[in-house]
Amino acid sequence: MQDSTQIEEMPWGQPENQAASGGGDSNRLIIFDTTLRDGEQSPGISLDPVEKLEIAEQLARLKVDYIEAGFPVSSEGDFEAVNTIARTVGVEGGPVIAALSRTHLSDVDRCWEALAPAHRSRIHVFISTSPTHMEHMLKMNQEQVIAETVAGVTRARSYTNDVEFSPQDATRTPLDFMLEVLRAAVDSGATTLNIPDTVGYGIPWDFGALIQYIRNQVPGSYILSTHCHNDLGLATANSLAGVRAGARQVEVCINGIGERAGNAALEEVVMAIRIRPDQFPGLQVGVNTEELAKTSRLVSRLTGYPVQYNKAVVGKNAFAHESGIHQHGVLSERTTYEIIDAKSVGQIGKQIVLGKHSGRHAFRDSVAKMGLELQGETLNAAFVRFKELADRKVEITEADLEAIVAEEIGVELVEGWTLEALEVSGGTVASPKARVVLSRSGEKKESVCEGNGMIDAAFQAIRSASSTDAVLVGFNVSAVTGGMDALGDVLVQLESEEVGLKVSGRGVSTDVVEASARAYLNALNRLDRFKSRSLGMIQNKGEIGP
Ligand code: KIV
Ligand code: ZN
Repeated sequence: MQDSTQIEEMPWGQPENQAASGGGDSNRLIIFDTTLRDGEQSPGISLDPVEKLEIAEQLARLKVDYIEAGFPVSSEGDFEAVNTIARTVGVEGGPVIAALSRTHLSDVDRCWEALAPAHRSRIHVFISTSPTHMEHMLKMNQEQVIAETVAGVTRARSYTNDVEFSPQDATRTPLDFMLEVLRAAVDSGATTLNIPDTVGYGIPWDFGALIQYIRNQVPGSYILSTHCHNDLGLATANSLAGVRAGARQVEVCINGIGERAGNAALEEVVMAIRIRPDQFPGLQVGVNTEELAKTSRLVSRLTGYPVQYNKAVVGKNAFAHESGIHQHGVLSERTTYEIIDAKSVGQIGKQIVLGKHSGRHAFRDSVAKMGLELQGETLNAAFVRFKELADRKVEITEADLEAIVAEEIGVELVEGWTLEALEVSGGTVASPKARVVLSRSGEKKESVCEGNGMIDAAFQAIRSASSTDAVLVGFNVSAVTGGMDALGDVLVQLESEEVGLKVSGRGVSTDVVEASARAYLNALNRLDRFKSRSLGMIQNKGEIGP
């Protein structure tokens, strides 16, 4: 930390230091999910309100305590997303809905306007406190930052009695000044003090000591919270150190997504506490861990961020054993090489018993059991895709169904392009060639193009038929499940210079060229959806993000 010499050596982790300061149940760890706010700030991720709602509904099934749904003043889209989530997910018995706000009074007002329909809501007010942020970004002195803190928190408190305050870049802020700001925030009514390690500068024992020091030095009734970024790969470790030192809220993202190297991963922090109760005696976490794998897959699909194979808890290989000795051990007794039961984190999916003779009702019921409510055009389109798949694939798994449904979600919101036909030819002798027929609002477009390979030819033909200016900037292929008839899962990332935005799209099919074409069209349709919003607002978002 900036001034770590000022922190006395402290025996952090002693039981008497583990009670939350002030209000709240000291045995309960609040899981504050910020996938839809900080996670959405990852480079290249742009979720629209429908996609955000889909993720929020799944986070509610996961039973997180808080969902930070967005930063309402940053764009109309974010306002709409927070407002919709507040109305439909923030119901009685559901999670508390939070939203971010700068200290500006008009930001706080807008934040509250977005949150108002929620049964329970929180305004999260932040301002930078480190010398570098104050000099180069805020252009404010210490007195001004304190005055802003008091004004923003007081305004927030006039709306709700659940107010969080964050001194941004806390770990590079001189301690005395940070304590002054935090005391001012508590005196103005903040009920949660969040300590952001904004640039991932913390080291576990130092960050733990900082949390404990704040608890001892800032009087009042509040809950301490951690918000750790992963620039040194220490976000989970730092969050856990904060918890041991008395923090009773952790701010986390699914799959650890977020600015730059990301935030602490929800699944890692939660499972560490579940698997090592000896290190966190009596600490309770309310998350339904069986929903973790599904939540991870959904976030990955909608954000276009693949989950690395060896990612802890939710990675494809987290429960795979390669060496003979390990396989032998696990077959005799699972615990020989596994500390987590794969079922407890939803890594062993239920087999869906749908086949090509299944009807619409059975399909809709199965999808509903997976927690996905499909209606109208989305249901029709997903059902058609399911039937096509059932003709080509013997066994349809839950992961396959999720992949199809994710591809179709939100499509009804714009008149997007549909792939009517795709023909490709190529090989080692002939030049690769593709013919595509696209349709949109009753209009058909056809194009034939050559390319460097069959996938490239298909992309060129789609570009020409749709007359798009978008440029391909990312391409990734993986298999949804194993086996010869596995679904190819393709991720395409397109960039539009016109709106200065990158979007991703996914496509699935047993045929990789078709999956690629579908992914390309999916991204193109999302881009059109964003373009149909105000261009100014999209550009605005980059300018006033935290
Ligand atoms: O990393 C950070 O400092 C933040 C704050 C806005 C809490 O995301
Ligand atoms: Zn952050």
